[in-house]
Formats: sequence, C-alpha cells, structure tokens
Amino acid sequence: MQTISVKTGAGSYPVVFGRGAIRRLRKFLARFDDGVEMFVLSSPRVWRNCGREILRGAGTLVHRQPILFDDAESAKNLQTVGAICRKLVRAGADRRCVLVAVGGGVVGDVAGFVAASYLRGVRLVHVPTTLVAQIDSSIGGKTGVDLPEGKNLVGAFYPPQLVVADPNLLRSLPDRQYRSGIYEVVKYGVIGDVKLFDRLERNMAAILRREPKAVELLIPRCIRLKAGIVSKDERESGLRQVLNFGHTLGHAFETAGNYRRYLHGEAVGWGILAATLLGLATARLDLPEAQRIARAIASVGGLPSISGIRAAKLLPLTRHDKKARAGRVGWVLSRGIGRVDWGIELPEALVARVICELPDVARLARGAR
Ligand SMILES: NC(=O)c1ccc[n+]([C@@H]2O[C@H](COP(=O)([O-])OP(=O)(O)OC[C@H]3O[C@@H](n4cnc5c(N)ncnc54)[C@H](O)[C@@H]3O)[C@@H](O)[C@H]2O)c1
Ligand SMILES: [Zn+2]
Repeated sequence: MQTISVKTGAGSYPVVFGRGAIRRLRKFLARFDDGVEMFVLSSPRVWRNCGREILRGAGTLVHRQPILFDDAESAKNLQTVGAICRKLVRAGADRRCVLVAVGGGVVGDVAGFVAASYLRGVRLVHVPTTLVAQIDSSIGGKTGVDLPEGKNLVGAFYPPQLVVADPNLLRSLPDRQYRSGIYEVVKYGVIGDVKLFDRLERNMAAILRREPKAVELLIPRCIRLKAGIVSKDERESGLRQVLNFGHTLGHAFETAGNYRRYLHGEAVGWGILAATLLGLATARLDLPEAQRIARAIASVGGLPSISGIRAAKLLPLTRHDKKARAGRVGWVLSRGIGRVDWGIELPEALVARVICELPDVARLARGAR
C-alpha cells in the first residue's frame, strides 16, 4: 500500500493506492469522527460492478443504500446535482456528513461539486473506479458539471479529504475505457517522467493485458506526478497548465465528435499527436523524439477516425476552450520526452496544416511500431 500526499491551501490529503485497498476501506474511513453519516454516491453501472466490494470493505460505516445517478456525460449537469442534493436532504444528511464518490470521472466531478455546494460544503472521499479517475480526475480538487454551452463550465476547486484507489476495481472496466486511460499515461510520460515513458515503450503489451505488476507500477507514478504538480499550483495559475498537454485540440476533437465519437482519452490521443507535430514544426522536438511519442500513441491501439472533422471546425473550438484567454490559445508543447513548455502562441495556419497531416502521421506511426 502506498500513500501519496497532495497539498492544498486548506491542508493536505492522502491518496492511498494499492491492490486490495478497498478491503480496508473501513480502516481508512475510520479517520472521520464517530457517528458521522457517510453516503455513497455512485452510478447504476459502477454499483453493479463494484458495489458489493465497496460495501464489504466499508462495513457498517456507510449507508447500505447508495444514491445512484446516471454517469453518462450528457447527465453531468446541474439537474443531476439538484436531484442528488434533494435526495441528501430527504435522507437527513447534515453538515457533518461525508460523501463517498464511487465511480469514474463523471461520478467524481458531479459528486465533488455536490460536496462543494451541499450545505455550503461537506466532506468528500473519492473511490475512483476507472483508470482515468485513478490517475487523474480524483486528484487535484477540480469538480464540476457541463452546460449545454460547453464542458465543465460550472464547478469549484474542492479537494477531497481522502482518495482510495484500488486497481482491483478496474477489472470490470471495458477495454476501450481502459485504453482511453492509457493515452493519459502517455501524456504523463511526455510532460514529466522519462522512466514512465520508457516503461510504456517496453511494456505496452503487458500493460494492455492489465498484468498486475505492470499496472501497479504505472498508476502510482502517474498519481505522484499529478500530486506534485497540483500541490505546487492548486488553482492553475501556472505550472498546472502542463497537464493540458494534448488537451487543447483533444477537447476540440471531443466537442466536434459530439462527445460520442471519442472517449476523452482517445481525443487526447489525437491531441498528443497534434502537439507532437507542432513541437516538431516549431523546432522544439527533434524527429527521433517525435517519432517515439507518435509510436507510443499508436501502440495503445487504433484511435477512432477523424475523417470529416475539419480544421475549420476545430480551430474556433480551441479559441473557446476554457483555458484560452481572450481567444488566445496557450499551447503546451514538448521539448523532448519529460519536458514541456506552456503558454505558447502559434499561428492558426500552422495548426490547420498539422490537423490535415494527422491521419497520414497516425498511419505511418502504426506501421512503424
Ligand atoms: N476533475 C478532473 O480533474 C478531471 C480530469 C479528467 C477527466 N475528468 C472528467 O472525467 C470524465 C471522464 O471520466 P472517465 O474517463 O473516468 O469515464 P466515466 O466516468 O465517463 O466512466 C466511463 C464508463 O465506465 C463505467 N465504469 C466506471 N467504472 C467502472 C468499472 N470499474 N467497471 C465497469 N464500468 C465502469 C461508467 O459507468 C461509464 O459508463 C469526463 O467528464 C471528464 O471531464 C475530470
Ligand atoms: Zn484528460
């Protein structure tokens, strides 16, 4: 069992990682005061797959009846937040209560925002059940929901009290969801961990087969990297932007595909490929390093096609990204594996050219792996 600490303005919280951690959930939850009510927030699908393990691990500390809500991206909205808050009121949840979010990034983001706003804030524990949630969304305190106008537009920075991540919970995760998380692992390697990247290159087959040893080395490395970054820059005023590598165009692909064609990590896979070409075009990256990144992306598996998605559609979407300032996009580009620059402005003509080249580059990288 490993414990990684994340610093916030309001103190630190531990991220406990380990196979079998869920069996000891009761012990971890015992840090909260006696008699406090703990409510599980989850989705029907997650609960079908993980509920029994959670209840067995938490024992009598949590309410046996979880509050379940749809975790489709289309349900990540204020109506769902309202419905959960009303259920909490009806269940008698008071200010001392603890909410235990069991699920992927959608459950975590929604439950996190409920915790931030219900009775002006109640305590929160994350039990992430997807790879993306274990290495990314449960750490760093970003919570929130979507509006019809865009993704994650309403939310709060609201750190949890505790995160318990157990790779056993990933066993039931569909293969495509798991692979989607691996693109985010590639991102971590590129932005700050050469050894992690080397490991991806050497062990991708074992990682994709979810061999316990391979997975157990990967996840805590990503957690450490993210924990280190958000501990230095909780509110994304600087360094935290490096986590956005591959996400500027990634988010644009997600939106252009109506959140159906690509899973988040897949869109990021395309975004990483584009950022790599942009690094090459601006002479930050040399060709061998760029090829390594492109091959790593290709080795995760085939990305859903980008045919029919034109630069003319993507470019305005990058300008509307939450992270753009006054329509000016700050790109995150790699200077070599393990090193990135952020806040880089680029001519749109260059970005448009790179988008056109993407399908050919992806094909070449698949052939070369
Ligand atoms: N807050 C952050 O910092 C942050 C970071 C990254 C992503 N996100 C958000 O996270 C969301 C994506 O999260 P995600 O990739 O974890 O996917 P998800 O929450 O959409 O879950 C994907 C699917 O897998 C199912 N599932 C979850 N765990 C399972 C399990 N153990 N077994 C079987 N099925 C399971 C879910 O029911 C869902 O159908 C997006 O909304 C994104 O904006 C937030
Ligand atoms: Zn992401």
